[in-house]
Amino acid sequence: MKFYIKTYGCQMNERDSEAAASALAASGHEMVQDENNADILMFNTCSVRDQAERKALGKLGILIKLKKQKPDIIIGVLGCMAQRMKEQIIEKIPHVDFVAGTDQFHKLPEIVESTILKRKHIVAVDADSEIIENLSGHLNSKNQISAFISVMRGCNRFCSYCIVPYVRGRERSRDKKEILEEANMLVNAGIKEIVLLGQNIAAYGLEGRGQPTEESPFAELLQTLSGLDGLLRIRFTSPHPQYFNQKLIDAMASLPKVCKNLHLPMQSGSDRILELMNRHYTAKKYLSIVDSLKEKIPGMTFSSDIIVGFPTETESDFNETRRVMREVGYDNAYIFKYSPRSGTKAAEMKDDVPQAVKDERNQILLAALDETTGRHNKALVGSTIEVLVEGVSKRNSERWCGRSSSNKVVVFEPLPGIKIGDLINLEITRATAMTLFGK
Ligand code: SAH
Ligand code: SF4
Ligand code: F3S
Repeated sequence: MKFYIKTYGCQMNERDSEAAASALAASGHEMVQDENNADILMFNTCSVRDQAERKALGKLGILIKLKKQKPDIIIGVLGCMAQRMKEQIIEKIPHVDFVAGTDQFHKLPEIVESTILKRKHIVAVDADSEIIENLSGHLNSKNQISAFISVMRGCNRFCSYCIVPYVRGRERSRDKKEILEEANMLVNAGIKEIVLLGQNIAAYGLEGRGQPTEESPFAELLQTLSGLDGLLRIRFTSPHPQYFNQKLIDAMASLPKVCKNLHLPMQSGSDRILELMNRHYTAKKYLSIVDSLKEKIPGMTFSSDIIVGFPTETESDFNETRRVMREVGYDNAYIFKYSPRSGTKAAEMKDDVPQAVKDERNQILLAALDETTGRHNKALVGSTIEVLVEGVSKRNSERWCGRSSSNKVVVFEPLPGIKIGDLINLEITRATAMTLFGK
């Protein structure tokens, strides 16, 4: 049958969707890009903010029309919202045929098969904490140079605002050998860049130890993967600052394939708020990681996740966030307005920062970010940057784009002979806050 899968949420979800699609393709189904041509429609959902859930629920709601026209189509809800809401999804939206939680991706071909045969609702949401294998399938597409590998599942951090540990379960690291096999397979298929994924990725391989240690099995994994011939670049997301130890700093500094860009979620610059968030670090500790990396790796860039309007956040807490942001000088940041998630610790606190204040703080940080990236990008005009060629630019088909190790997109007019996946040097001729132009 023909299936369509739409993904909401984070890169881990994107990766799960790809693995699920690959498993379904291997069991004889065919993936289509247009939902109107599909017999099976699946939605891999996110629960991290209320807005993320509302978006998916809205989409599912309007599918009732399609279901009336074509009663044989199958609608499935996967992932984090499926795990959180379980059978409530079908109670709310009875035209959904199956619900499959975050630990059920490997069983998707079976679940789809049973739905087709039995024609009754299926809710598969067991937290099968042992199973992290059988999720290594990728969709091979020509012209693709970058691929995700999930190296761990789940999260044990329980940051007070966050639903992820409840919907994704406990941390489980994959076997290094299996990761290496997956990476090898990708490189042999032409992949040049691997992005390693995990919600608390710097804690890779530390299960059962609870607290951060001096060791870093994750740094060792970076080192091992660096040895793969043909692999040009390694990126990873997201490390928790508490686990970002000296070994990992040294690994980033000494392994040239590991990119000069780090997504290091700060969340808040106020120590009081960080404590309420259960983040286990201070602004000072956060900045010390950034400073060591800046010192050891010239040209290093940073990005972040920041929450504004966490319960009790005052103007002075917010100013601390602005200060840390200024000191780091982010080149990218995702700024979120706090949204209470029921079941989390923070949801027991009053959501007392008014929406208008959240909006205003959000705007202030976005403007600050724009100013910094504009300034950083302008400073690059005249310099030469090595980029990995990604292909035709989305905005203008005459132009191509490439990405620097520091995660800057550079747009250029390609000379004959240049291919996707080449590493080329570009002289930066012009810059905006979003994009660099080079020749
Ligand atoms: N594991 C990653 C984050 C995953 S969730 C990490 O710790 O870095 C992605 C981001 O969503 C978080 O970093 C946080 O900034 C934001 N987020 C999570 N829960 C939220 C909530 N309840 N309200 C607003 N933003 C939230
Ligand atoms: Fe959520 Fe914190 Fe885990 Fe990130 S580390 S997924 S923010 S609980
Ligand atoms: Fe969302 Fe689940 Fe990712 S809640 S952010 S899709 S882990």
